[in-house]
Amino acid sequence: MNFSSSLANTSFNGLLFNASGPLCITQEDLESIGNSKSAAINIKSITVEPRAGNQEPFWALTHIGGINSVGLPNLGYKAYIQMVPKLKTFTKPIIASVSGLSIEDNETIFKALQDTEIDLIELNTACPNIEGKAMIGYDFEQTRALLTRLKLFNKIPFGLKLPPYLDPILIQEMAEIVKEFEIPFISCCNTAGNALIIDPLTDRSVIKGKDGLGGLSGAALKPIALGNVAMFYRALKDTNTKIIGIGGIESGRDLYDYILAGADMGQVATVMMHEGNGCFERIQTEFCILMKEKNIRKIEDIQGSWDLSI
Ligand code: SIN
Repeated sequence: MNFSSSLANTSFNGLLFNASGPLCITQEDLESIGNSKSAAINIKSITVEPRAGNQEPFWALTHIGGINSVGLPNLGYKAYIQMVPKLKTFTKPIIASVSGLSIEDNETIFKALQDTEIDLIELNTACPNIEGKAMIGYDFEQTRALLTRLKLFNKIPFGLKLPPYLDPILIQEMAEIVKEFEIPFISCCNTAGNALIIDPLTDRSVIKGKDGLGGLSGAALKPIALGNVAMFYRALKDTNTKIIGIGGIESGRDLYDYILAGADMGQVATVMMHEGNGCFERIQTEFCILMKEKNIRKIEDIQGSWDLSI
């Protein structure tokens, strides 16, 4: 049993790939993902200029989940464009996560990517780790202004990576934008920003990063991200927008939960940090075994079926 999916006419052999996290920055990282069972290669969020990122240690794994304030370290868009021909040899979709530091920067990167063989762009609206830079995904007016300009670059389909929302009204507002701009997919969601985890041995934050605060990921994020996926699924049910679930997928059961909540696919980052790229094969195998045990042949048969009240 093997499950496949598609986003904006791009086919994926599998349901799981890497989130744009700390392990997809260098050519070596990306080739390692290419050689794994990840269904795609998702490049670390790109800025115009190369960035070194925040002060180390910028990520930590704890008993409740991960925390990071990596600060968008990346090689700059020109370096990634040069890598595309080599990355294409892995015969899986190449996704460029883009996180320009201004509207103009995003335009520069989008424009340059149009003439490459990149399959999809994931516009990251939700990095919480840049000092002094607001997360655009929480500002609906700015999001509309940005999308109005980026929609002019229409050769490569793009989706949105969103922050977690804790009020359903915010989900409704973002869903309206997704409909208005006919966004083909949303990645739901980025880390819960500006969290603090204190190390009981030192009484200090477990990371330096941006003032010791960072985005919460992994198991601690899962219930919030699942709730966001479930709410977006309802809000976007009558559209063609697909949902990629992110947050605490560490087992086949976790991926199954996201499908129940309404996701089409999943992304992982935190589990990659402690397990490496073998996690893609393990999690998808566990998922297939679970589906077989439950005698479910298509994800559509269970997608969005979590609600006890229906
Ligand atoms: C980071 O680079 O700080 C993490 C990426 C993100 O949260 O978007």
